[in-house]
Amino acid sequence: MKKEEKKKLPTHVAIIMDGNGRWAKKRLLPRAMGHSAGAKNVEPMCKAAWDLGIKYLTVYAFSTENWTRSDDEVSTLMKLLKDYLVGCIEKSRKNNMRVRVIGDVSRLSKDLQDAITRLEDYSKDFDGLQFQVALNYGGRDDIVRAVKKISEKVKSGEISEDQITESMVSGSLDTYEIPDPDLLIRTSGELRISNFMLWQLAYTEMYFTDVYWPDFDKKELEKALEYYANRDRRFGGRKS
Ligand code: FPP
Repeated sequence: MKKEEKKKLPTHVAIIMDGNGRWAKKRLLPRAMGHSAGAKNVEPMCKAAWDLGIKYLTVYAFSTENWTRSDDEVSTLMKLLKDYLVGCIEKSRKNNMRVRVIGDVSRLSKDLQDAITRLEDYSKDFDGLQFQVALNYGGRDDIVRAVKKISEKVKSGEISEDQITESMVSGSLDTYEIPDPDLLIRTSGELRISNFMLWQLAYTEMYFTDVYWPDFDKKELEKALEYYANRDRRFGGRKS
């Protein structure tokens, strides 16, 4: 076995893809071009993650707060996302990749919702990279929707209040089939979680880099994995 193969690897990597706007500004380009460069970087990073041994990858593509951006920017992002999801059918087949969307999709346009349903259904048996796209996603909103699902069960008498456990909450979130992230990466130098997977990130290692998302490549991902491999992970009192 090669030395690298023995390194501790995260099973699930989550990424806050930040810095598209600043990437464009630095080049005197419109923000929209930053977003389209960012969107183009998603497929190569999925391949890089898989090549490096990552099983689950989740990216934050559109937050519940992103609706407050200008109408122009929101529609640019929606168009990019739709093109991406439609084109992703072929990418998922080529890369044996299962794609799921997390977030409240009910607020998205009908054609986007249809594209999501088609892609999730088409890719559901692919057992390569398990790729999640967070779309109209907010960590607090995820928890609120989970609480509502559980309250319904209490109300209908299916469960009693004292049967509510942490694992029931985990199992009621959008990520119910997906292990919690081991490593969170945020690009572009901001040191915040910005309402991303608040429940799921409880014990996650965090890696922040100044690199803007469109410039984040396999080498940068390797640096993040190196950082992770050198961390002594603790889950409260017990070691991993
Ligand atoms: C942050 O850049 C990025 C976003 C708001 C969304 C991320 C979206 C993409 C990478 C493109 C679409 C995604 C997919 C999956 C096709 P920012 O605008 O906040 O950058 P700034 O902080 O430099 O202004």
